[in-house]
Amino acid sequence: MCSDVLAAVAWPYANGPRHIGHVSGFGVPSDVFARYMRMAGHNVLMVSGSDEHGTAIQVKADSEGLTARECADKYHRVIASDLQGLGLSYDLYTRTTTPNHYLVVQEMFTALYDNGYIVAQTQMGAISPSTGRTLPDRFIEGTCPICGYDSARGDQCDNCGNQLDPVDLINPVSRINGETPEFIETEHFFLDLPKVAEQLTTWLDSREDWRPNVLKFSHNLLEKIRPRAITRDLDWGIPVPVEGAEGKVLYVWFDAPIGYISNTKELCDSNPERFGSWQKWWQDPETRLVHFIGKDNIVFHCLIFPTMLKAHGGYILPDNVPANEFLNLEDNKISTSKNWAVWLHEYLRDFEGKQDVLRYVLTANAPETKDNNFTWKDFQERNNSELVAVYGNFVNRALQLTKKYWDGVVPACGELHDVDRQAIQEFKDVKEKLEAYLEAFKFREAQKEAMNLARIGNKYITECEPWKVWKTDPKRVETILNLSLQLVANLSIAFEPFLPFSSKKLRSMINMTEYDWSELG
Ligand code: MF3
Ligand code: ZN
Repeated sequence: MCSDVLAAVAWPYANGPRHIGHVSGFGVPSDVFARYMRMAGHNVLMVSGSDEHGTAIQVKADSEGLTARECADKYHRVIASDLQGLGLSYDLYTRTTTPNHYLVVQEMFTALYDNGYIVAQTQMGAISPSTGRTLPDRFIEGTCPICGYDSARGDQCDNCGNQLDPVDLINPVSRINGETPEFIETEHFFLDLPKVAEQLTTWLDSREDWRPNVLKFSHNLLEKIRPRAITRDLDWGIPVPVEGAEGKVLYVWFDAPIGYISNTKELCDSNPERFGSWQKWWQDPETRLVHFIGKDNIVFHCLIFPTMLKAHGGYILPDNVPANEFLNLEDNKISTSKNWAVWLHEYLRDFEGKQDVLRYVLTANAPETKDNNFTWKDFQERNNSELVAVYGNFVNRALQLTKKYWDGVVPACGELHDVDRQAIQEFKDVKEKLEAYLEAFKFREAQKEAMNLARIGNKYITECEPWKVWKTDPKRVETILNLSLQLVANLSIAFEPFLPFSSKKLRSMINMTEYDWSELG
């Protein structure tokens, strides 16, 4: 059955270029999913954009002598072009600094405020003694009062996942200059998360097909949920639309997820005939909303944003949030500050035209159930012994043989032999597994099955030995080549979600125009 599928992909911070950890977490999997769903005949929107507010951008801007806006402009361009360079097929990649986004966010805030889900409270806010400026939560580091982790941040502990306030930290220090912050009382608006907690628990309990780690993590956090400040004393951000709140802006994590909605609105308003109304995507219970994120985003996508959607009323909640764990690089944690990363722009520059190799390796090593590792040795091996030796080899053989014996024309299929029927059956079995894995967000396994199709092809050609049969039974070679070429065509369909550049090339080599998933088989 055909349905509406909204692939809502994490919005990268516009505070620097992206690395393979990011694209392994939210990028490649979202694209595999969206491409597959489109080919399977669903109505798909894949939406995202740059996350441009917040202190991360302000701090980066300061360090480069830019204004926050200049900094966001600069990195939005880099990120958008890199993600698209890797073939991510967004329907719209926008940004959180558009007037449309400001409007949608302020409307959401007002609705939540009017519905009684946003309350004013005072809290202890940190300021820098040397500058007198407010010190953002995430730039304060200290020991987690809950688990004892020694580099917990003022907003949350990445070790136990708990939400924190900077005052809770033991021995807090500023990550900007190492000084000890001072705390003063400030008034902020808080999102009343506990008010929706029971509903969320019921909802999470019904999400039986979610990844167990995502569910477990969310349930744990839900048990300890507290109201959370959603405003900040900063001048970079979306103004709080309440009288008397001048100088305060909305917390970046309040505004960014609303980007999924404002993006859809921007897209639908730009071409309602093609995309329909934005309400159809957000208010129709039949729409499947799926978020693609890394695990550090779970609390926002499984608890906070759903709370906002519920508190507003009328919106659907995510159908699934297949969050990924982290990708390490050569056994070490990827780190921007230590420059321990493979930067996307550098990869695209140094490996021109090899986007599919990176996509392939990132899917093969996707951290779907536990942290995983990227190594250059593995990259090389997968390229040589899988992409070249299995996929490339099969395609090459099929095309070369056709060229040699049939001058590049597809010969007719004659009577089938047992070996043909067997190959066709094996193919069908693998195809079914491939589909089941794709539907279940098990993209590593799915890609393995796609590669098995190429293995079936290689085995088939080897078993049939057309180069020998040619001497005694040239008619039989026609069938062998016909089936081999059909397999090549199928390969281009099966790999389209994973290796879109190669699939496109394959299609042009064999003059193929249709490539719906229904053609597979
Ligand atoms: N900018 C965030 C990050 O990089 C992700 C934001 S996702 C959205 O971790 F929900 F806010 F859109
Ligand atoms: Zn902790």
